[in-house]
Amino acid sequence: MSKFVVAAPAIGGTAQKRSPHCSRTRVGHELKKQIRNFWENSPCDSGFSKAPMGTPAFYRELDEHRYKSHRRLQSCIEFQRFAGSQILEIGCGCGSEGERFVRAGGHYTAFDLTYAALSITETRFRLAKLRGAHFVQGDAEDLPFASNRFDLVYSHGVLHHVPNTAKTILEIHRVLRPGGRAIVMLYHRNSFNYQVNLRLVRRVRSRMLTNSLGLTLARRIWHEPEEELRRHAELMKHEPDSHLDMQKLLNRNTDGPDNPLSQAFSKFSAGEMFRQFSKVEMEVMFWNPNWLPGIGRLLPRTVEDCLASVWGWHLWIFAQKHHLRFASDEAS
Ligand SMILES: C[S@@+](CC[C@H](N)C(=O)[O-])C[C@H]1O[C@@H](n2cnc3c(N)ncnc32)[C@H](O)[C@@H]1O
Repeated sequence: MSKFVVAAPAIGGTAQKRSPHCSRTRVGHELKKQIRNFWENSPCDSGFSKAPMGTPAFYRELDEHRYKSHRRLQSCIEFQRFAGSQILEIGCGCGSEGERFVRAGGHYTAFDLTYAALSITETRFRLAKLRGAHFVQGDAEDLPFASNRFDLVYSHGVLHHVPNTAKTILEIHRVLRPGGRAIVMLYHRNSFNYQVNLRLVRRVRSRMLTNSLGLTLARRIWHEPEEELRRHAELMKHEPDSHLDMQKLLNRNTDGPDNPLSQAFSKFSAGEMFRQFSKVEMEVMFWNPNWLPGIGRLLPRTVEDCLASVWGWHLWIFAQKHHLRFASDEAS
């Protein structure tokens, strides 16, 4: 039995098998199971630390790596602003920002699809002697919380792995109190990573991986773990044409070769999903030097920051729910 609050219906349980004749429901159900299994077996960021999982060194190393690679992540959240606020984090991962929200005086609820992420986050809090946080397991498409409950919903790198992102954003809107804020990071479609690296470079690389010379070359050029490259090679062997399918390229080249689902959004498509919010601002961030083999690591920080702000992979959305209810809302 889970030690966390588990929201019903549990994914993979009987409650979602209501329509055996509807193949779309079955496909959706199967995909959700795959997504959950994937994240259960590979908790986000956990590979960035060599220390044993759940030790103080583990959290220290992964936070060091996280905030070194994502230089603007902490400053753009402004944790102090949310002291005393009710905060929900969707997809807590290893709890890095969760710890910072609590240290800044926020009342924090960690929410995740997986037991693994909640357990890693809970252990982090226990080691740091941070009390009062809540841990809830469930699916972001059906948030198990009352309406108008939170001052902030924060979600970093999660909603592009949820099949129905638009529905999840409606859920975020519902659980926010009037005037409450959402801070969400989604993968950015009009980015160098999507338009150049995935569309072109990764396609070529996939073809290279079909022979051992190509595999050795790929290791030298991209410095990726051999195990990961071999898994890509294996997938290519089973589906030789899969490098032509953009959705498969996106899934396999964002969070690991076995990742079942990733999506990428333009500012326009993200804006559409957030249209029920009153104020919506967006910012593009994050540049990975490995996207430019050979010269990426030689670029001055200012050039990197400039590339990140125009062609970065992370689209941050800062949105606020309307303060007032209008007559038209009442009627609907
Ligand atoms: C890429 S990790 C991001 C974790 C963390 N926010 C970070 O930035 O490191 C994705 C996380 O979202 C969770 N997740 C995926 N689908 C979800 C869903 N439908 N509902 C809630 N959490 C979900 C996964 O279990 C995983 O912990």
